[in-house]
Amino acid sequence: MGLLGTDTKKKLAMSGLVFVFCYLVMLFVVFLIIVVGNFSGWQTYIVENFPEVLSLIVSIFFLFGIVYWYYLFEDADALVNRKNILLIFTILIVSVIISYIFGEFVHIDSRPVAVFAFLALFLTSRRHALFLNFIFSFVMFVIDLFTNTAPMTNINNEIYASFLLSFIGGTVAVFLAGKVKTRGGLLLSGVFIAVPTVLIVMLFNLPEITTDWIEYVSSVGFRILSSILSAVLALALLPFFEHAFNRLTVFRLRELTSTDAALLVRLKKEAPGTFNHSLIVAQLAETCAVAVGENAELARTAAYYHDVGKLKQPDCFTENQTDYNVHDEITPELSADIIRSHTKDGYDLLIKSHLPKIIADVALEHHGTLPIKYFYDKAIRYSGDADLKDFSYLGPIPQTKIAAIVMICDGAEAAARAMSDRTPEKVEKVCRSIIEERMDLGQFDECDITMKELTVIKKALVEALSGVHHHRVKYPAIQFGRDRQAVKTEDDRNE
Ligand SMILES: [Fe+2]
Ligand SMILES: [Fe+2]
Repeated sequence: MGLLGTDTKKKLAMSGLVFVFCYLVMLFVVFLIIVVGNFSGWQTYIVENFPEVLSLIVSIFFLFGIVYWYYLFEDADALVNRKNILLIFTILIVSVIISYIFGEFVHIDSRPVAVFAFLALFLTSRRHALFLNFIFSFVMFVIDLFTNTAPMTNINNEIYASFLLSFIGGTVAVFLAGKVKTRGGLLLSGVFIAVPTVLIVMLFNLPEITTDWIEYVSSVGFRILSSILSAVLALALLPFFEHAFNRLTVFRLRELTSTDAALLVRLKKEAPGTFNHSLIVAQLAETCAVAVGENAELARTAAYYHDVGKLKQPDCFTENQTDYNVHDEITPELSADIIRSHTKDGYDLLIKSHLPKIIADVALEHHGTLPIKYFYDKAIRYSGDADLKDFSYLGPIPQTKIAAIVMICDGAEAAARAMSDRTPEKVEKVCRSIIEERMDLGQFDECDITMKELTVIKKALVEALSGVHHHRVKYPAIQFGRDRQAVKTEDDRNE
């Protein structure tokens, strides 16, 4: 903590305040649970069970505190942004509310306890979701334990069964839905988590089978329903959290890369050259991200949008020009100014269009502080002298591996497009020089990409580019006559 800057400390303090706020909201929710459970005599209940209520208040404080500590040690970066803390506790509180509404008004076994695990998985990460689900199960457990209207000496199996159901159901949900990329897949995970939870309910309620078999069967039925309900509710709530907290889920990434996404439609119509270039960069970025174990969907989406800033003046960029070139009529300084402004223009457009900040950051960083060689050279030729700073992008340099990957793929795609001979050896040479040049210019100094990863990226790029721009087979230039006899042979013929 001593090494943290003042700004970071301030942000952590703000997150601490959000934590306290969420804790107070949780206590209010617990109060409502007590009131609903003891509607006619909740005041008497609280007075008579004061030690239990106090235990509940303290237990929830520690459980919430453990989440805060966990993030402090495991992912302090996430903690710096108070929106993350708000998101985590909001999904926790909302899941508790939903579970108790179903438990109170439908059936105790209809609690859709896995909804929290699904939400945490898609809105945070698998590792965090596993831990957070454990905390959620404990929060449910202490609420059940300390708000139980039955005497404390007569705690029934249901409370323990409930804890196991939340924990096992949620954990299985995280593992099952971990690789899910479609809404249908998420629903299917909901069906599968019914298996362990139904087994638990069947075993815990086994004594009931002879005394009240109708209740036994309905418990099992409600358990199946609750598993599917968990997935349905997660699907219904995810868009709200995605937009309210500007989060990226696989589902939102899919929507952003769909052909009818507003900005992509504009790009295709107004800057077709840039659109085609972005499609290839996206394909390359996805391949490279897979090769180094980064988020491939995110890399692909970021690459789709990396050049949207060119929408401001599409005709000023080579890939969208036909005959007329505006740069023939303006100074190299002005040309460089127009070219380099597309990173900031892209960032502004993406933020204005409510796209996730991480996508906008890639658009801003994808040229780092690289020089615009063509116009620098032109300026030197015209006036004999030029300041390289006036012909360089304004940065910042890539801050994430995804931004570095898009930067490399962007350069490699442009270079490969200009190559007439794209044999793997020549593509390798070009890719190596692109990566080395960016390294020499310090473009990777602020992201945690390693030398090993750069080598892996280069290899993936060579394979992909040799595939994307595969050199065409030279057809034998033989012409046949009617009698199927060769009548003309040339060395080479352009097909
Ligand atoms: Fe660009
Ligand atoms: Fe580009």
